[in-house]
Order: sequence, then C-alpha cells, then structure tokens
Amino acid sequence: MVNLDWNNLGFEYVKTDFRFVAHYKDGTWSSGDLIEDNQIALHEASPALHYGQQCFEGLKAYRWKDGSINLFRPEENAKRLQESCHRLFMPPVPVDLFLHACTQVVKANAKWVGPYGSGATFYLRPLVLGVGKGLGLRPAPEYMFVVFGSPVGSYFQGGMRPANFIVSEFDRAAPKGTGAVKVGGNYAASLLPGKLAKEQGFSDCVYLDPATHTKIEEVGGANFFAISKKEVFVTPASPSILPSITRRSLVYLAKENLGLEVVEGDVFIDALKDYSEAGVCGTAAVIVPVGGISYQGHLHVFNQEKAGPITQKLYETLVGMQLGDLRAPQGWITRVV
Ligand code: PLP
Ligand code: COI
Repeated sequence: MVNLDWNNLGFEYVKTDFRFVAHYKDGTWSSGDLIEDNQIALHEASPALHYGQQCFEGLKAYRWKDGSINLFRPEENAKRLQESCHRLFMPPVPVDLFLHACTQVVKANAKWVGPYGSGATFYLRPLVLGVGKGLGLRPAPEYMFVVFGSPVGSYFQGGMRPANFIVSEFDRAAPKGTGAVKVGGNYAASLLPGKLAKEQGFSDCVYLDPATHTKIEEVGGANFFAISKKEVFVTPASPSILPSITRRSLVYLAKENLGLEVVEGDVFIDALKDYSEAGVCGTAAVIVPVGGISYQGHLHVFNQEKAGPITQKLYETLVGMQLGDLRAPQGWITRVV
C-alpha cells in the first residue's frame, strides 16, 4: 500500500498509476487498455467540449478485513451509464466492458485502495466522451470510454456529522430534461447554486421539483430521504432526479432489514414538520444526516441537528455490507482481488 494519510482523506483527486481507455470507432468499441498517462488529448471540435456530449459514473472499491477488494453493485452503474449514453445519443458502453475496465483499474491500482477501517475507499470515475471533429450540432463521430480512480475519504464534512442545506432558487434539471441521467451539464448547472449555498454556510443546496417548486428533489450530488414521525422511510419519486444506487439499496434495507414501511413519493417542502429525521445518500456522500433545511429564511431542524437513530442504523447496515462485515443481498458484491 502506498503511504497516504488514509484516515484523513477528503474527496480530492490523487493521481494513481493506471487508468483504462477504450475507443468507439466505425460502430464498435475497442477492447481497451490500461495506460499510465493521466492526460487526454482531444480534437478541439469534440462535441464533449462544446455541446456537453459526455456522461459519467461514480462507484467505489472497498478493502475488506480479509484484505480482499470488492465493488458494490457495479452492474447498476454500468446500466445507468447506458441510460445516460442513450439520452445523449452516444453508443452505450457494453456492461462487460464497463465491468472489465473497473476491475482492471482496481487491480492495477490495488496499492491505492486504503486499509480496512481507515474510512478510505477507492473511487472509480468512468467517463464517456463524444470526440472528433464536429462543429455543427450533431453527435460526435467517435467516442472514448475512460475509467480512472482515486483514493477518497468523506465527501461532506466528515462521516455521519449532520450537514445543513438551503433550498435553491435555481432548478437543477427540467421535468423532461436530463435530471435522471448522469451528464456533466447537470453538474455545471449546480455549481453556481452550490457556491451560493456554501457562501451562506451550508454544505450544499436542496433542489425543488422544477415544475411546481413545492417538493424536494435531491441535493447537488446525492439523493434525499426522510423518516416520518410514523417511522416511514420516504424518498422523492421524480423523473428529474438521478436514480441513486445507494438510495435503491436503502429502500431495500429499510424494508427488509429494518422492517420499515417505504414510500417513494412526495416530500413537500412545507411539510417538513412531519419528519423526524432526514438524510442525503450517494456513492460519494454515503449517508449524511440532514441537520436542517433552510427555506424562505427559516431553518427547519431535524432531530436537534443530530444523526437520527434510523439514519444511523441504515448507515451501519449499508457500510457494514460495503465493507464485508455484514452479509449483503445476493449479487450486490463483486470481488476484484
Ligand atoms: N444524485 C446526484 C445528483 C448524484 O450526483 C449522485 C451521485 O452519484 C447521486 C444522486 C447518488 O447516486 P448513487 O447512489 O448511485 O451514487
Ligand atoms: C457520486 O456520488 O458518485 C457522485 O458522482 C457525486 C459527485 C458530486 C461526486
């Protein structure tokens, strides 16, 4: 293992040894290779650069107590990348190529996957880019699929420390736009609202549904859930939020492991008093309790700004499975080494 301050990593890029690159040309994907160079040279007229014809994924490899390295539900990321490619008129990356690339990158960079118990994980960032000359508005003539990885720690301020959010005046996505796919444009659109939220002391902003601005959608890089006073796990159902794999896992765990009722429906911003706990969830975020949400000048606080008991239990169950300390449902874990 390389020498890093494993217990104190944030979410910053660290250059590792190898990345994987495959090319799409004349109707087929190449089998791809591991390379060492972390710079990508692109034609200046590449549609990825002008028209945002690009999409990406995020998933993690985890070091278990037995020294093995494992991925969490990578097929789900492969399928979601295909959805993103489809929406942006790009050739989908075959699931097998996606899994092969992620596996190769983890194996080749195994010394960058931090020790069990340190809190560090290895974040994989698959990308698909529309490349080649294309000045007019049309799909790229060629594509690149890249997977690189970086050791990471906490995305928000640290582990299960509650974070506060503010409702944004901006929309992140349109009702029938690209909110449900993982495309760079959604994130570019969230930079200014995110910066404004941070300037006011919040971790990020909460977006409301773009059609009516009455319901919570998600935050800039994670889905939202809340626990009602009747102990129902509620998480927004909307065509303009990213279908989070972490949230899908929590829906399952809330039902099957915690025995909770689950509702995928509406969380109205003016009905927060109905909820005793709230949290955000995602690959980078894991689970972060929501301490409070500021809306129209008022901070609504959940559980006295402390991690709630159900949020805590969900976190322990999810992370326990990701780190191999609890048995995960069939098919959730892919062993790499
Ligand atoms: N919502 C957005 C906007 C995201 O960027 C992410 C991160 O991938 C999520 C939700 C969480 O999705 P997942 O749990 O699949 O990482
Ligand atoms: C992830 O959680 O994987 C994401 O892509 C979110 C991003 C803002 C880091």
